[in-house]
Amino acid sequence: MNNQVIIVKDYEEMSCLAYEYFKEQLKNNPKTVWGLATGSTPVGLYKKLCDSENLDFSNCTSFNLDEYEGLKQDDIQSYCYFMNENLFSKINIHTDKCFLPLGCAEDLDKECLKYDNMINLVGGIDFQVLGIGTNGHIGFNEPSESFSEGTHVVDLTDQTIKDNGAKYFNNNMELVPKRALSMGTLQIAKAKKIIILASGKNKALAVASAINGPVTPNVPASILQTCKDVIWIIDEAAASMLKI
Ligand code: PGA
Repeated sequence: MNNQVIIVKDYEEMSCLAYEYFKEQLKNNPKTVWGLATGSTPVGLYKKLCDSENLDFSNCTSFNLDEYEGLKQDDIQSYCYFMNENLFSKINIHTDKCFLPLGCAEDLDKECLKYDNMINLVGGIDFQVLGIGTNGHIGFNEPSESFSEGTHVVDLTDQTIKDNGAKYFNNNMELVPKRALSMGTLQIAKAKKIIILASGKNKALAVASAINGPVTPNVPASILQTCKDVIWIIDEAAASMLKI
């Protein structure tokens, strides 16, 4: 397996180390095409990027993993809003080069194709940051019978609706969109470099299954075992079920 696994003490250390990798990547390639994630996991990392004064993102492009279906870009629950609030508005990246799938597009299948074409046009993702769901999902690729390929429309599982409802929708599951647009698992795996972050005991089983278990679409993050350059940065709680 080509995955490097780094265990750190806690969320803060995880965010610091991820930040160091971001800085290094930016130094090596000021025109990096970033693959970005939402959720609570990368917030600490994004905060460090926002607080850092001498990082130049002006030549970068970014593509986010996913977006809820039906939400307009200025909806406060949309991932577009999240990214603007937590990163884009606070660094010097050009927002016209920051892309997310459009969850409110009239024709979602067309939107997915368009998104994939845009990623291909810039030569693919150079550096992808990922979180992992408690069910092993990456992006919104839920456990299933086969690995998804390009960007596609996903039915969210009850587990994901429950996780996200508790965290972001005040436990009101009715408000959580039931579908989303997500980059595919195989597409994510094509990124030239990937860092995947996990913090907390509730991620321990997913992390152990993805790293120690077989490569299976039932644990979408296990696809990373097949990738050349993957770094897991996980805190002690998330690593508590790992066998290394
Ligand atoms: P979280 O979500 O960062 O909010 O834990 C991660 C994920 O579901 O991929």
